[in-house]
Amino acid sequence: MIVLVGFMGAGKTTVGSLLAKQLGVPFDDVDLVISRRAGRSIREIFAADGEPAFRDLEHRVTAELLAGRSAVLALGGGAAEHPGTRACLRGSRVVYLEVGYDEAMLRVAHDPGRPMLRAPGLRDIFERRRSGYESVATDVIRTDGRGPEAICEDIIEKLGRRP
Ligand code: S3P
Repeated sequence: MIVLVGFMGAGKTTVGSLLAKQLGVPFDDVDLVISRRAGRSIREIFAADGEPAFRDLEHRVTAELLAGRSAVLALGGGAAEHPGTRACLRGSRVVYLEVGYDEAMLRVAHDPGRPMLRAPGLRDIFERRRSGYESVATDVIRTDGRGPEAICEDIIEKLGRRP
């Protein structure tokens, strides 16, 4: 299984689905699974139940999918902060899509579907999360100024070099 982690706007969903298509394997995205199962958007879950409830649910669904048969799996931007999720990631191939704060904001700042974009101290959250991503990553790919195809090529190249 190839797991993609990184901050909002790193390109986990876009790159993950392209990567899966190129490898001819299935793709899953934890946020999509959560909102499909709940019958509500992530924004609605945050608004109605609050962030701690979302984090619990996110951890349970992430752990379940990590133990399952997804071939390429994109996690949510906050998933790697959960110690239980970090433990579940041990032994998986984890690609950290690294993005600078300004570039991430250019990509997603206006997305109303991402409630964490309005969290106070977002830049501090961004900085704090770096170490979580780094601690679980087996590979780090820079994404600033690059499109999904080039990023995908990088990942495939790395996979081939060190299976
Ligand atoms: C979150 C990122 C989102 C989603 C939720 C919380 C975060 O996923 O899980 O809105 O805390 O950074 P993406 O990284 O796919 O936007």
